[in-house]
Amino acid sequence: MIEKYLLPAKVALRSTLDVFRRRPVSALVSTAAAIIAAGFIFLIGAIVVAWLGIYDVAATKGHNEAFAWFLHFTMRNSVKSHAPPIPQPPLDDPALIAKGETYSELRCAPCHGATDRSADLVAQHMLPAPPNISTLKREFSPDQLHWIIKHGIKMSAMPAWPTRKRDDEIWSLVAYLNHIGKNPSETQTPTPKATHDPERPGIGGAVSANTCFACHGSDGNGRDGVFPKIAGLSANYIQQSLKDYRAGTRPSGFMWPFAASLSDEEIKDLAAHFAGMERHSHQKGAEPDQKKIQQGAQIAEPARNTRPTLACQSCHVRDSSKRALDVPDLAGQPARYLSTQLKLFRSGTRRGTQKRKLMAHIAQKLTDADIENVSAYFAALPTRSGESGNGSAASNVQP
Ligand code: HEC
Ligand code: HEC
Ligand code: HEC
Repeated sequence: MIEKYLLPAKVALRSTLDVFRRRPVSALVSTAAAIIAAGFIFLIGAIVVAWLGIYDVAATKGHNEAFAWFLHFTMRNSVKSHAPPIPQPPLDDPALIAKGETYSELRCAPCHGATDRSADLVAQHMLPAPPNISTLKREFSPDQLHWIIKHGIKMSAMPAWPTRKRDDEIWSLVAYLNHIGKNPSETQTPTPKATHDPERPGIGGAVSANTCFACHGSDGNGRDGVFPKIAGLSANYIQQSLKDYRAGTRPSGFMWPFAASLSDEEIKDLAAHFAGMERHSHQKGAEPDQKKIQQGAQIAEPARNTRPTLACQSCHVRDSSKRALDVPDLAGQPARYLSTQLKLFRSGTRRGTQKRKLMAHIAQKLTDADIENVSAYFAALPTRSGESGNGSAASNVQP
């Protein structure tokens, strides 16, 4: 079989040399020819090594030091030349860091461990072994970390982010890696933890309502603005959202891993569980900006609407008994969550229920400033699940 390749190679080499023999050439050209020939011989050598199975791929042995260095060198340079500089959110935002930390605990820790423990045993035997989370930041800039988490690393176990469409989600992990990279004092020495922890569903772990609590809180109120509130959404809307995440029509690297394997029956049970919970509208953190809220009211409230498009509260009615089942309650949702979703509708990334087409159409009419204002408005709006009256009732927003 090898002869099949060697023979044409020999012929090609000989005819090249013949050309040189026939014509007098400069030293420069003959040096170039020698380099090409050497490259050719190296290539043939590499093919022979691969063909004869000389290189041992057993992960029990590891690469030899020089080859391991070469692979890491290749990876590092590839990341540096592929990762474009992209606009960054403020990476020291505590909510962003907390969001990244939660995801990391659930989905990165099985391989990269945490600041106080090492990876699961199986991951420790991977080759290359995943480095501990506290050292990930060392070699890379935030842009480069973003690129690695988004695209993964070939020929290693490092997976790509579940969707290419959610750069915004990846920044939370970069913020977390950046935070622990900058605060090594918070980083304890990893202690080996041998067995799989059933409380920590990672690769292959089962999903239960407990898993949802990690992010959405045990009362469904989203842990102080870090994650969206799912308490008080209709069972219908929750079911539809989980199906959209499962199908990928609503792309999210945060939700997809937890929705992907749910059966219709499980989705129904989870939806009933969270729909029955009460939404709280308290907001922690910075004081809401009254100017933004007032401007938001002119987009949201039918009585104060100054826009040609439908006021938001024509559909997002405050009184839950009058709201259509497939329209979510926006009151008290974190402003950042709302503005991200509006931008996803605007760009056509968030698809889903039939009615979302209307939502996409409405979002296209909003400028970035409108989105900021209307998000601030709904974030500050107190929830009034049972109360009657809608629309202008919200004009007295007093958070
Ligand atoms: C299935 C195991 C696995 C999971 C899950 C995983 N990684 Fe990795 N990761 C790896 C391996 C293996 C490498 C080493 C790749 C190499 O050196 O070529 C790596 C490398 C990296 C690197 C490059 C740093 C370096 O010095 O090599 C970063 C950054 C990273 N992972 C971040 C993450 C984040 C963040 C998550 C969670 C979203 C994650 N990884 C999930 C296995 C994993
Ligand atoms: C790792 C954190 C995390 C876990 C675990 C998680 N979620 Fe989520 N969830 C999120 C994030 C982040 C979003 C917003 C995603 C987006 O941008 O669309 C979200 C969105 C949702 C939404 C849509 C909310 C809305 O207003 O449209 C529902 C419903 C939901 N999650 C239910 C669940 C259920 C049920 C579980 C458990 C099976 C769960 N989530 C587990 C982080 C999580
Ligand atoms: C014609 C009715 C209608 C109007 C008017 C409307 N929406 Fe919506 N909105 C919807 C529907 C339906 C959904 C759910 C889409 C889905 O299931 O994906 C939605 C979803 C949303 C979401 C996502 C909420 C979440 O929990 O993920 C946001 C944010 C939102 N709308 C904001 C607004 C704003 C701001 C306005 C006014 C500028 C507005 N909507 C006007 C019908 C409407």
